[in-house]
Amino acid sequence: MTFESYSEPRVKRINDFLDSNLLKFRGSVSQRFAPLISAMQYSLEGGGKRLRPLMVVAAAECLGLPIDDVLPAACAIEYIHTYSLVHDDLPALDDDDTRRGKPSNHKKFGEAVAILAGDALLTEAFGLMHQLTENKRFNALNILNATELLSTFAGVRGMVGGQLLDVTSGNLNYSLPEVEFIHIHKTGAMILASVLMPARLIGAEEPRIKNLRRYGEAVGLAFQISDDILDSEATLRYSRGPRKKPKPSYTQVMSPAEMKQKLNSLIDNATQALAEEGQKAEPLVAIAEFIRTRRH
Ligand code: FPP
Ligand code: MG
Repeated sequence: MTFESYSEPRVKRINDFLDSNLLKFRGSVSQRFAPLISAMQYSLEGGGKRLRPLMVVAAAECLGLPIDDVLPAACAIEYIHTYSLVHDDLPALDDDDTRRGKPSNHKKFGEAVAILAGDALLTEAFGLMHQLTENKRFNALNILNATELLSTFAGVRGMVGGQLLDVTSGNLNYSLPEVEFIHIHKTGAMILASVLMPARLIGAEEPRIKNLRRYGEAVGLAFQISDDILDSEATLRYSRGPRKKPKPSYTQVMSPAEMKQKLNSLIDNATQALAEEGQKAEPLVAIAEFIRTRRH
C-alpha cells in the first residue's frame, strides 16, 4: 500500500463531507452570518493535506470501524486544526501574510473577521462531534469521552498550552527538552488525539490502545521535526510565507543530520509499535512513512 493510493480516495471523502456539511450549515443560518461562513470556508478549503482526519480514518480502519462512522470526528479535528492556523497567522502571533500559497485569513478578510472565523471553527467543531449521535454505532457516554479527549488535546494541556510556550518563550536559547515539550504539546497533541479518537469512540480500554498511543506520540513529534526540517531547508515555504518571528525549533538544538536521525528513529518506533496489529495497521504505517519523507 502506498500513501497516495490510500489517501486519495479517503481525502476525497473527507473533503466531500466537509463541503456538504458546510453547505448545509450555511443554509441553516441567517444570511447575515454569510461573511463569517465565507471566512471559515476560505481556510477550510485552503489546500491542506488533511493529515489529521486521515489519521482518524486510518486509526478507525485499524480498529475495524467503517470510515463513514468517524467522519464527523475526523472533520471536527480538521476544524480545530484550521482555526489554529488562522489564529497562528495573526499579527499578535506569528504574523504570517500567506498560508498554503494564498493570503492568510486576516489578509483576505481582516483581523476581526479572522479572529471570529477561528472562534467559530473551534466552537462548531463541538457541534460536529454531536453529529456522531446520529449514527447508533457509538454510545452517548463514549461520544462524550471522545469530546473530552478533543478538548483536552486541543486546550491548555495540549495545543493551546504548547502555543503559549511557543509565542512567549522570548529567548532562543532553548534546551532540547524544552523544544521537545513545546512540540509535543503544540503539534503532537492534535495528532495523538486523531489517532486515539476512534478508540475513545468505541470505549477501548488502555491495554488495547497502548500500541496506538505509542504510534501517535512518536508520529506527533516526528511531524513537527519534519516541519522544522522543511523550514530549515527553504527560506520560503509553500505552506507558509517567510518567517517574521523566530520560533523554538529543533534547528536550534540539533544539526540537520541529527534532526533526520531523530525523525527516522521516531518513525521506526511508530511503525514497530503497530507490528502486533498486522495488516489492518498498514494505513497508519503508510502515513508514518509519508511523514518520514514528505516535502510539503
Ligand atoms: C502545519 O500542519 C501545522 C503545524 C506543524 C502545527 C503548528 C501548530 C500550530 C500552528 C498551533 C497553533 C495554535 C494556536 C492555538 C493558535 P500541516 O502541514 O498538516 O498543515 P496543512 O493543513 O496546511 O497541510
Ligand atoms: Mg506559524
